[in-house]
Amino acid sequence: MDAIEVIRAKRDRGELTTAQIDWVIDAYTRGDVADEQMSALAMAILLNGMNRREIASWTQAMIRSGERMDWSALDRPTADKHSTGGVGDKITLPLAPLVAACGAYVPQLSGRGLGHTGGTLDKLESIPGWRASLSNAEMLAALRSAGAVVCAAGSGLAPADKKLYALRDVTGTVESIPLIASSIMSKKIAEGTGSLVLDVKVGSGAFMKTVREARELAETMVALGTDAGVRTVALLTAMDRPLGRAVGNALEVAESVEVLAGGGPADVVELTLRLAREMLEAAGVAPVKDPEKALEDGSAMDAWRRMISAQGGDPDAALPRAAQTLTVDAPASGVLARLDAYAVGLAAWRLGAGRARKEDPVSFGAGIELHAKPGDVVRAGQPLLTLHADDAARFPRALEALDGGYAVGPAAGEQLPLVIDRVTAA
Ligand code: URA
Repeated sequence: MDAIEVIRAKRDRGELTTAQIDWVIDAYTRGDVADEQMSALAMAILLNGMNRREIASWTQAMIRSGERMDWSALDRPTADKHSTGGVGDKITLPLAPLVAACGAYVPQLSGRGLGHTGGTLDKLESIPGWRASLSNAEMLAALRSAGAVVCAAGSGLAPADKKLYALRDVTGTVESIPLIASSIMSKKIAEGTGSLVLDVKVGSGAFMKTVREARELAETMVALGTDAGVRTVALLTAMDRPLGRAVGNALEVAESVEVLAGGGPADVVELTLRLAREMLEAAGVAPVKDPEKALEDGSAMDAWRRMISAQGGDPDAALPRAAQTLTVDAPASGVLARLDAYAVGLAAWRLGAGRARKEDPVSFGAGIELHAKPGDVVRAGQPLLTLHADDAARFPRALEALDGGYAVGPAAGEQLPLVIDRVTAA
């Protein structure tokens, strides 16, 4: 087989055979198919799509490019959650220890932020001492001691996806449902979880801007998981406005700790509880306690402290704070009609919370506090947002990103329901 034959087949809207897919993924991982050939194929896939059989073969080939983890030595079922990414989406932080406190193990391999969306590992790394890289043996030990572990995927897990994702990122080929679904699910299936809840975000701050696209992505991923023997369900949830009241690494850790202490913003608490119940159900665990009770009685907080300590973090250490702040006030009295997720995410990124290139550092203290959420009554001159940055020179570009991203009016604007829909295997 050769790469040009495979590229031509997809360019001409043909269906790739499983043998062609197996060959091209294997040859690309070994370096026998060049980056420019794989980027041509990725663009042909983006433009012409793949059917369900092709997507399943592509996913399986990426799983086979590396190791598959196995948690069968554990005495309780495993459950994981994956979010397609958004602004202020810190849900993994309270959710993983909460589900552990209710009786399932949570082995989660997570990622870093890129562009305007935040990454779970960047958030956790703002905790002094916390380590994202663990060996498989350390992961197992952390799971046994804390019930939950959130860490970086090692280089042995789906290496084909690692290489391909980096290539897609610089060739305009990220936004393809077959490529996104196979990328996410190859890692989640290789991670070895027994059950998976997908949080597919919809709106300006998400990859998927419309409910129709998000549903297609969710259905594709649920089918891939189910066919691979992972009990998989998806929720479509709102990302037209930011989640919670904090956007940025350390700010989001602080908000997560508030949730674990029984407080926190209503939307973060509601989504955390809903996802916890979905995870316990998918795992087939009879919960040792109700998730709401585990937040109230401190058992989820205890699991959080064990989880952070097991990875070298100090749960009592002060979190980093940015040196400079700037407050944005409400321009008029009325109702906050709109607060756009993308505008807030882009502004936080420009403040230093995110990175432009994979190798860039992030500022742990940078980000945005939201003093009002869409639908809240506000008075002219009251603080709407506080921007945090290490360097005040970052404020003007962040303010530009926010320009037109919020509006105060006579009444609340339309917004998506927090949980839009639930997708299960057909
Ligand atoms: N996250 C992934 O892991 N892969 C994608 O393609 C998109 C988001």
